Parts: sequence; structure tokens; C-alpha cells
Amino acid sequence: MSHSIPFIDLQAQRWRLGASLEVAIQKAVEGGQWILGPQVAQLERELAQWAGVKHAIACANGTDALLLVLRAWGVGPGDAVFVPAFTFAASAEVVVLAGAVPVFVDVLPDTFNIDPVSLEAAIAMVKKDGALKPKVVMPVDLFGQPADYRSLTPIAKREGLKLLCDTAQGFGGVMDGKRTGSIGDAAATSFFPAKPLGCYGDGGACFTNDDALKDKLLSLRMHGQGSDRYEHVAIGLNSRLDTIQAAILIEKLKIFDDEIETRNAIARRYSEAFAASNRIKTPPVMEGALSIWASYTLQVANRSEFQLKLKSAGIPTMVYYPIPLSRQPAYAHYPSVPTPVSEALSGQVLSLPMHPYLDEATQDRIIAAVLAAAG
Ligand SMILES: Cc1ncc(COP(=O)(O)O)c(C=O)c1O
Repeated sequence: MSHSIPFIDLQAQRWRLGASLEVAIQKAVEGGQWILGPQVAQLERELAQWAGVKHAIACANGTDALLLVLRAWGVGPGDAVFVPAFTFAASAEVVVLAGAVPVFVDVLPDTFNIDPVSLEAAIAMVKKDGALKPKVVMPVDLFGQPADYRSLTPIAKREGLKLLCDTAQGFGGVMDGKRTGSIGDAAATSFFPAKPLGCYGDGGACFTNDDALKDKLLSLRMHGQGSDRYEHVAIGLNSRLDTIQAAILIEKLKIFDDEIETRNAIARRYSEAFAASNRIKTPPVMEGALSIWASYTLQVANRSEFQLKLKSAGIPTMVYYPIPLSRQPAYAHYPSVPTPVSEALSGQVLSLPMHPYLDEATQDRIIAAVLAAAG
């Protein structure tokens, strides 16, 4: 058995940032404002500017970021929120936490993102049934690639639905010249350590161009605070970002463009090499889109065998996600249109190591092992 490489190497990035990171952390500690300190406001300004959106509102994690927006919009009992069936559980979890109902929609077989045709069918189903009011579409920028906003935005507009982009895996991706974060009525991201822009704990942010929504989000993340600290105008959450995490993210944002470029170069190299095998389906990027490659995900037949062969070659892999949400014990009773693509994908997807510090020799080792496993 060959020695195993890490799936994601976060330490390599730490070495690259070096002393600047240590100094930033030290300053945050010495500053003494450990929650929502000045670095948090600085990060919010820098994130908004970088994404091309008016407001960024930092919070405790990506799940809260989604929930805060739903709560700020007053989404609750009797409301339907359209969510892809092939995503991480948090996308649907927040809908239930808000008191609303997730309605599962199928995804596209190549990009893994919400299928506009299936969305139209889900909206028609909910309208015909009449029990729920369609309120929000929540596309997910799965594995780093923006959803098909070119098709989704007109559907949301026509149906009077809000567009909440779950860009936890895709923050910074581009569609038709716009970065995710600036697309939709609002967006939410996660700074979980393994995300392309991750901190050293939990963190998240909401994004919007809507001034009134920004004010509501700032209040809701602080227990629904009013104009005075101990006046409460809404039922909120305790969902604030730690100053140390903001200080770390400020340093990481400086190299994020460069890291995205490197991720794209690695993805291109993988895809070119895997084109040699007709047993592997590589992940395409939509024309006019830029992925940030949170994951590089293949589709293979005989996945277990494939995964075992890679493991014995020292190549770790992950399965995101083995069960579609429409089949999960906690979610199977919620409404869904047929989700055959999500079901097929959950049996075939396999994610390879992907991070900006994979050197060429390691990439070559991964490529050779994948081609050998494909046979
Ligand atoms: C698609 C998606 N949505 C939401 C989340 C939730 O983010 P967090 O783990 O920061 O709460 C994640 C992250 O794991 C995610 O991948």
C-alpha cells in the first residue's frame, strides 16, 4: 500500500500565509473585542467589495446565514421553499427550522445543480395542490459551480419567488461576469475550514444589495436587537462571528483569487487526463461560468471497487452525497417531484483530492491511480 496523501491540505496554506496570519491572530487577541470586533466590520467591507455586492453580514456559520435570511423575509409556516434534492442537509434543514416546508427538486446530470425544468414542475405541483404558498427558490452552487442562474432568475421573477443562493460551496464563483454573493435577492456562505474560503472554526456570511434586509439581518444575528442593546424587536439568534476568525479570513481573502486560479488549473489538468478513459465522466463547467472547485467530482460505475483501488494506491476519496435528501430518513416525508437524477448521482459520484497546494507530482499520482482504477 502506498503512503496516503491528505484529501485537503490546510496546513500548506498556513505555511504560505506564515507570519502575517500569526500577527493577525495576535492583534485580534490583544484588541480584546473578541466577538464582532473591528476586524469583522473590515471583513464585511472587503467581502462585499470582492463579491460586488452592497452588503456582507458575517455570522456564526453557513447554516445560520441561510436561516437568518429566511427569518428576515418572514418565511414560515405554510410557505414552500424549493431546494435541490442533491445537496448537503443544511440547505433543507434551515427551511424546517424556519417553520416552512422544503420541496425537493431534481438536479442536472452534468453540473449537479438544480434543474430549472424540474423546478418548474415543482412550482406547478405546489400551486396545484394549494396547501403551501411558493415563497423561495434556494439554488445551491454545488461543488463550487454557480447554479444555472440564467434560467433560474427569470423563473423566480415570473413566479414572484425570492432567490436565496446557497453558495456555501461556491462563494466567489462567477456566472456571466457576476460573482456568487452578488447573485439573487440574497446569498449565504460558509467559512467552515474545508471550504475554499474557510476560517479556523465555524463562520458564515449573508450577502444582499437590499438595505432593509441588511438591517434586519444585523438585528437578527444579535437576538433581534432594536435601536438599543436591550430592546428586542424580533425573535433572533445568537449568530455572530468571532474576531479571530475574521482576522484569519482577511488574510486568506488576499490570496483567494490566486487559489481559485490554481484550483482551476488543477481541475483542467484532471479533466484533460481523464478524457483518455470512457469509463469516467468528468465534471463540466457551464459556458460563461467559473467554478471555484470546492470539490472535483467524477461519476463512475462500480464506485466501491473504484474507491478501494484508489485507497490502496494511497488516494483518499469522498462521496458527496450518498443519499439524496428526498430519501433521507429526516426529510423523506416532505414534498418532492421525482428525483431520478439525484438518485443516480448519489450512487456514482466520487470526489478526488482538490486544493490549491496539490503539486504536479501528486496530481500525476492521482491521475495515474484514477486511470488505472478505471481500467
Ligand atoms: C451546500 C451547503 N449549505 C450549507 C452549509 C452549511 O454551512 P455550515 O457548515 O457553515 O453551517 C454547507 C456546509 O457544510 C453546505 O455545503
